[in-house]
Amino acid sequence: MEVRIGIIGAKFAGDFHAQSWSWVPGAKIDAIADIDKKSRENFASVHKVPKIYDDYKKLLKDPEIDLVDICLPNFLHAEVTIAAMKAGKDVICEKPFATTLEDGERVAAVQKETGQKYFYAEDWIFAPALVRAKNLLDEGAIGKILYLKGKEVHNGSHSPFAQKIKFCGGGSLIHLAVHPIGFFHHLLGMPVSVIGKCSGGGELNMVHKKMEGEDWGLGILSYADGTEVTVEGNYITRGGMDDVVELYGTHGRLTVDMTFGNPLNVFSMKGYGYAIEKADFTQGWTKPAVDEHQTLGYKDELRHFKECVTGETEQIRGTYAEDGLNVLKIIDAIYRSNQTGKQIVL
Ligand SMILES: NC(=O)c1ccc[n+]([C@@H]2O[C@H](COP(=O)([O-])OP(=O)(O)OC[C@H]3O[C@@H](n4cnc5c(N)ncnc54)[C@H](O)[C@@H]3O)[C@@H](O)[C@H]2O)c1
Repeated sequence: MEVRIGIIGAKFAGDFHAQSWSWVPGAKIDAIADIDKKSRENFASVHKVPKIYDDYKKLLKDPEIDLVDICLPNFLHAEVTIAAMKAGKDVICEKPFATTLEDGERVAAVQKETGQKYFYAEDWIFAPALVRAKNLLDEGAIGKILYLKGKEVHNGSHSPFAQKIKFCGGGSLIHLAVHPIGFFHHLLGMPVSVIGKCSGGGELNMVHKKMEGEDWGLGILSYADGTEVTVEGNYITRGGMDDVVELYGTHGRLTVDMTFGNPLNVFSMKGYGYAIEKADFTQGWTKPAVDEHQTLGYKDELRHFKECVTGETEQIRGTYAEDGLNVLKIIDAIYRSNQTGKQIVL
C-alpha cells in the first residue's frame, strides 16, 4: 500500500530523510514545504518531488498527503506537529519532541485528543548495531545490566538555529545527548532520579562562546533496580561525529562504535568530498562512513513508520508521543539539576 509523504523542512535532515525514504517500498514523497525558495526548489529537483509549498499550512491542507515528516528547527516541532495532527495527518517528527516541557505536554495532549499516529524519530532505536546489542541483552549474553554509557559528540551544529536557546531548547545536551537518552529510555523506561552538569553557555562554554546553550553536557540517570546510566552530548569534539554506547553487565560487556566502527580506511593526499558528519577534513588517513543512513538507523526507522501507517506492523516502544515527552522530561531534569546543583527525583 502506498503512503504519500509531505516533508516540511528541505535542508540537512529533510535531505537525509528523503534519501532514506527512497529505500522504503511504497513510500512516495509527494510534497515539500520550506520558507526558503532556494532550499525547497533544490530539494524538489534533487528528490523529484512534484508539489512545492512555500508555507507548511498549505501542505497540511493537501488532501493527498497521508503522513507529514517534520524536519524543521526544534522550536517549530510542537507548533507544526499540533497543526498537522489537527489537520488529520499522521506525523513523524525529528528530535527533540519539543523545546520546552509545556510545549511537549501540549503535543502529547493533542495526539491523545486527535488519535492521529505520532512517531518520535529516534533513529538510534533502529540502528542495526544497537538493535543487535538489544537482542543480545534480551538473550542474557552479558547477564544483568549494571551500567550503561552513551554519547553523541561532534564539533558543533551547522544550523544557525542551534545558537539560541529559544530556537533549540538548550545546547549539546538536547541536540546530541537526546539520542543515547532516547535509546536508553527505549531499553529501560524512566529513571527515578537524575543528576546533571553542563558548561555554562556563552562565555562560560569551553569552545563555543557565541552559543547560548551548553557546549558540553552530562547526565547521570539512576534506575529503581540500581542500574546507573551516563549520557553525554558535546560540541567540543574534533575529527567527526562520535557515537558510542557501552553496556556493562554481571557476565560481560558490550560496546558499539556507531560512527567509526566500519571496515573502510582511506589515505588520501588531496582529500575527497565527504567522510563522516562533521569531519574537519579528508586528507591523510580517514575512516569514511560506509552507509550512514543505514548505520544510524534512518532507513529502518522510516520503513517501520511507513509500515505502522499502513497497519503492516505494530509501533515499537520508544517512538510514541509519551516516549518523546519522557525523553524531554529527562533532559529537563538534567538542566534543572545543573542549575540547582541538586539531584532531581522524577
Ligand atoms: N536524527 C538526527 O540524527 C538528526 C540529525 C540532524 C538534524 N536533526 C533534526 O532535524 C531538524 C532539522 O535540522 P536541520 O539540521 O535540517 O536544520 P536546518 O536549519 O539545516 O534546516 C531547517 C529547514 O527548515 C526551514 N524552515 C525554517 N522555518 C520554517 C517554516 N516556518 N516553515 C517551513 N520551513 C521552515 C529552513 O528554511 C531550513 O531549510 C532539527 O530538529 C534537528 O534536531 C536530526
